Amino acid sequence: MEREFHPALGAHTRAHVTQVVPAHRAANITAAKKLPQQFTCWTRDQRREGQRRTSSIIGVGCWTGLLHGWKRSQPAPPVSRRRTGPRFGHYDPRAMTDPAPASTPCPSSVWASADLSGNPHHDSEKHEKVRRMFAAIARRYDLNNRLHSFGRDQAWRRFAVRAAQVGPGDAVLDVACGTGDLTQAFAPTQAARVVGLDFTREMLEMARVKHTALDPSVAGKVEYVEGDAQRLPFEPACFHVVSIAFGIRNVADPSRAMREFARVLRPGGRLVILEFSRPSWAPLRLLNDFYCGWIMPRTATWISGDRSGAYKYLPRSVGTFMTPDELAARAASAGLVEYSRRFLTLGVCACYVFLKSESAP
Ligand SMILES: C[S@@+](CC[C@H](N)C(=O)[O-])C[C@H]1O[C@@H](n2cnc3c(N)ncnc32)[C@H](O)[C@@H]1O
Repeated sequence: MEREFHPALGAHTRAHVTQVVPAHRAANITAAKKLPQQFTCWTRDQRREGQRRTSSIIGVGCWTGLLHGWKRSQPAPPVSRRRTGPRFGHYDPRAMTDPAPASTPCPSSVWASADLSGNPHHDSEKHEKVRRMFAAIARRYDLNNRLHSFGRDQAWRRFAVRAAQVGPGDAVLDVACGTGDLTQAFAPTQAARVVGLDFTREMLEMARVKHTALDPSVAGKVEYVEGDAQRLPFEPACFHVVSIAFGIRNVADPSRAMREFARVLRPGGRLVILEFSRPSWAPLRLLNDFYCGWIMPRTATWISGDRSGAYKYLPRSVGTFMTPDELAARAASAGLVEYSRRFLTLGVCACYVFLKSESAP
């Protein structure tokens, strides 16, 4: 299944895995006990040494490795097949978010310069502003993604699908699914059901339009639900995999959302988060900051004809968001243990996998 998705990505990269669960903690996770033999807990020095060796590989494999954080995806521990919770599919419409006001195309600015001079994550109206902003840019959202990531965004999503290690019959929830790119990338996996959830109706409409282009043999297992990541309309323990791509940063209360992810995950289930990050190498970080902070806001705003301030909010929201370690700490408080962290495309994007312990309720 992986090969089907990723004929060229990382498949030939000689590499290793960053295991970020400390050995003593991993031992407490039943799922982690079942790691395949080739899975190794690397020390920092071993990791560095491995990176040096990886960097000496010349050719396409090397470039692919570079783009994908030098690391190859490894099988994640299996998700419990125990039917501990109700079958997937029972979602409670009463738990849905307040009905989304049919957000009209944004006539004026959502994010004023004054809002963005501070920290947009502390804005008391962030929830509603984010919804209005995505409503305003929904139509050109995909085009801007492809252009401004130089086509890498879909590769990142394929990487996330591979990291999720979807098993036969699994139920997958893609939160903040937007126009459905990640949701639809899950469709050809062995998953039995794939649900894309978002609170912006305009983004979901785009997802539904794109859905018609999906292969009919897999399209039937995908559905879209309008709802709030902070109040998921599903019963506990009904998904094997929960994913969120470029969404956690946009949720008003990420800690609350993570508690919800933990609640709807089965024991042993996986949470996969894709989010922007900043390269650790200073010259590259400067270049990236210039691109994201100066060039992209102008070109993306022009392409989408946006007046909401979405593409000014984007770099500001990345720059003021939690660091990877803070994100991992929030997940830990929600009961999720970090399993792996990979930096992609020179560190501009990160893919995290968290596990819900087998013994969790
Ligand atoms: C940057 S887009 C990402 C879309 C998609 N995951 C992708 O990979 O392109 C962020 C999405 O998060 C959604 N979002 C933000 N806060 C949300 C919330 N509390 N509940 C549901 N969706 C939310 C927005 O509506 C938007 O579609």
